[in-house]
Amino acid sequence: MSDYTWFEGIPFPAFGVPKETLQNVCNKFVVKEEDLILLTYPKSGTNWLVEIVCLIQTKGDPKWTQSLPIWDRSPWIETDIGYDILIKKKGPWLMTSHLPMHLFSKSLFSSKAKVIYLIRDVLVSGYYFWGNSILAKKPDSLGTYVEWFLKGNVLYGSWFEHIRAWLTMRELDNFLLLYYEDMKKDTMGTVKKICDFLGKKLEPDELDLVLKYSSFQVMKENNMSNYSLMEKELILPGFTLMRKGTTGDWKNHFTVAQAEAFDKVFQEKMAGFPPGMFLWE
Ligand code: A3P
Repeated sequence: MSDYTWFEGIPFPAFGVPKETLQNVCNKFVVKEEDLILLTYPKSGTNWLVEIVCLIQTKGDPKWTQSLPIWDRSPWIETDIGYDILIKKKGPWLMTSHLPMHLFSKSLFSSKAKVIYLIRDVLVSGYYFWGNSILAKKPDSLGTYVEWFLKGNVLYGSWFEHIRAWLTMRELDNFLLLYYEDMKKDTMGTVKKICDFLGKKLEPDELDLVLKYSSFQVMKENNMSNYSLMEKELILPGFTLMRKGTTGDWKNHFTVAQAEAFDKVFQEKMAGFPPGMFLWE
């Protein structure tokens, strides 16, 4: 069984996410107006979003994405390494976080810093990712993982609560909500949406380069983005970030009973959101 860092009743990876950093992010870290924060529950397509944003910043030039590890380009604020990079660097900051809203720096909520929140149906992706690392407790089956997931007994806590809380910001001008499922269906449309949100004007050929260098295949082959640089003692055979990159994979995995159990909890937890709010199949 894996050890966790427990903070405010939520388990975080014991490796790389110490309590002290979580306390610092929550209570000390001050977000600046010009910062851009990429927020997701793990396995929502975070790294794809980071890659796209980095490529938008360079107008499609892949030099940056191909020379610096993804976690150095947009540091994860809750990790010891990421926090250290951020506090030593003069802003504006591009940063990533999986933190639930109530544990994020309070300074965000009175700031104009931009937030992109990406959501996805993450269960199956998480089952493989965490199961092939030593960062999380390994379930004996997908059925067990579904049970843990529905109760929120997984790394970073409840997916439902993560989404519910962050979506309270969805009407704000400095908040952009994206769906992985949308990104897959219309990647160019999503890239343009991000450009508009960031006030970046890219030429058509630059947009094509963003698409090209953030494609699944190119990212899979880019050692700076595919997690092949991850510390070997943390991973098990079969570990990969770039697994399938598809939507609706639950259909290939869930039994009818698991799909029904998921749906029941989903309906209960997400009650109150407008119909059509969630796009997954
Ligand atoms: P799968 O496990 O379903 O393949 P995160 O970055 O939040 O950890 O999310 C990882 C998921 O995003 C993985 O899903 C991975 O394949 C997918 N992903 C990463 N880069 C992608 C890309 N360029 N296009 C589509 N999916 C991508």
